[in-house]
Amino acid sequence: MTPARAAITAVHGYVPPDLLTNSELAQMVDTSDTWITERTGIKQRHILKGEGLGTSHMAAEAVRGLLQKTETDPGEIDLLICATTTPDMQFPSTANLICDMVGVRNIGSFDVQAACSGFLYGLTIAAQFIANGTCRKVVVVGADKMSSIVDYTDRATCVLFGDAAGAVLLEPSGEGIMDALIRSDGSGMIHLHQKAGGSRMPATAESVAKRLHYVHQEGAAVYKFAIARMAEVAAEIMSRNNLRVDMIDWLVPHQANKRIIASTAERMGLPMSRVMVTIHKYGNTTNATIPLCLWDYEAILKRGDRLILAAFGGGFTWAGAYVQWGYDGATAPKLNGKGKNGKGA
Ligand code: ACO
Repeated sequence: MTPARAAITAVHGYVPPDLLTNSELAQMVDTSDTWITERTGIKQRHILKGEGLGTSHMAAEAVRGLLQKTETDPGEIDLLICATTTPDMQFPSTANLICDMVGVRNIGSFDVQAACSGFLYGLTIAAQFIANGTCRKVVVVGADKMSSIVDYTDRATCVLFGDAAGAVLLEPSGEGIMDALIRSDGSGMIHLHQKAGGSRMPATAESVAKRLHYVHQEGAAVYKFAIARMAEVAAEIMSRNNLRVDMIDWLVPHQANKRIIASTAERMGLPMSRVMVTIHKYGNTTNATIPLCLWDYEAILKRGDRLILAAFGGGFTWAGAYVQWGYDGATAPKLNGKGKNGKGA
């Protein structure tokens, strides 16, 4: 028997209502709208405000929408995976909390930590559960409250990140996730990490005073690796599936920097008209960028469209997937008209 493929049969997203614009950031640190726009492509990002609200809040909103638009009863879900770098707590897992919030009980749920590549790691794991017949409906949600680990006195990082969640439903099908690969290189840790708050350096008054609980990034080094690895992973997955560039309908890249996205597309020989871009309105939402792209472009995706998904993140980690889209987005149910502009504008 040929193992089933996992098709993405629905996508939904959530962005919190509060906006943080480039002009507002220019009043907080020594930066400007021009610098941020030219160097990153970001114009604004959404920030989750409200006491006691963590990543699970946004993820649960995205998953609730996913269940509602597909008329799926929570009891039908077999597995929920949450990809996040900003879990609500060290334990229990954010996936456990999301399940409780959306009314899912007695299923497997766990978090995946692979920084910005986490959503593709989660998708790859989920596809195995479908292929081996263990599960029929799996939710993968990528969610991050990056504002909780960003230092708003550090202009080199605070302009980059935003908060959001995006979720997909996976079900068995003849098409879907045709191939996926995940990669890592731990020697990249020095360039991008969070120093304190883990077991190596637990939180102390001193670590907080020294601002060690925030993202530490050497931007230029990360930039160089991101361009090389994103293009490499796309090329590898195309080559081993005998895909020429003219056969690709969409590149769905992790949204860290518009210049990284453009360089990846250029190295692949793909015009920007076939590249999903949402960074201008959401910034880098870490694990949410790829599902948010799919959500934004859902209305113009057609059944059978060939997509290459590619991500790069802290660790270093990187990942790629070749997906044949599972349904006509134009006929997909719409909730409040959100995220359905059809071109990511
Ligand atoms: N406003 C104005 N000037 C700034 C700002 C800012 N917000 N930030 C940095 N600068 C300055 C620097 O101080 C530096 O000034 P100097 O030349 O006087 O020293 C100058 O701009 C150039 O700094 P660079 O860091 O070299 O700027 P670069 O062009 O590389 O852009 C950026 C920085 C946007 C961070 C880029 O390096 C980048 O996108 N890196 C990759 C990010 C990424 O992909 N992360 C991976 C995913 S994140 C995750 O996994 C959690």
